[in-house]
Amino acid sequence: MDKVAVNYEKMYYGFPVILVSFYDVNGLPNVTTISSSYTLKDMVVLGFSSKGYAINQIKEVHDFVINVPDRSMMDAISYCGANSGHELSKFDNLNLTHVKSQSVNAPIIRECPIAIECTLTDVIERDQFKGITNILAQIKGRYVAQDYLNDEGGLQSSEFDNVLYIGDGRKKSFRYLQ
Ligand SMILES: Cc1cc2nc3c(=O)[nH]c(=O)nc-3n(C[C@H](O)[C@H](O)[C@H](O)COP(=O)(O)O)c2cc1C
Repeated sequence: MDKVAVNYEKMYYGFPVILVSFYDVNGLPNVTTISSSYTLKDMVVLGFSSKGYAINQIKEVHDFVINVPDRSMMDAISYCGANSGHELSKFDNLNLTHVKSQSVNAPIIRECPIAIECTLTDVIERDQFKGITNILAQIKGRYVAQDYLNDEGGLQSSEFDNVLYIGDGRKKSFRYLQ
């Protein structure tokens, strides 16, 4: 396959969009949109811009929930990705229901089909990658909508309707699995 060299600021080659929810240091629920994540077994890694409200609160409170939205939630995805908790409690302006999760002190978003409860274990900030904060967290609980499960309780991938974020630093694009 012939290829062309590109010098993009970034190259996001299709990462699932997630909504990260938490109670801030004042106990107020808040939420942000990210796409930089991966998980192996009971570990999850998230990447944040260091100045964001969510990451600075999570560094203090440690507990958070990864909520996986579907395509019907594009408005919330965009809103949480365009506004900062530094200025407002985003749930005040969203049509989403937050309920305390079971294993960690953080809110779950009911409307999202998947929720993963997490507790921060490591914060990684390096001079070489100024402005970026990576965190590692331990998964404490996982919840999946009934529709996403097969008869044996396993994941039914055909039901997934994740939003994938693709970007080159100039333009954000989204792809859908269905
Ligand atoms: C689709 C999408 C993906 C995003 N991915 C990330 C990401 O991986 N890491 C990050 O720090 N910000 C990401 N953002 C930007 C944040 O959502 C945005 O800066 C937000 O206003 C931060 O809010 P906060 O200050 O309340 O944390 C993304 C935004 C969108 C719309």
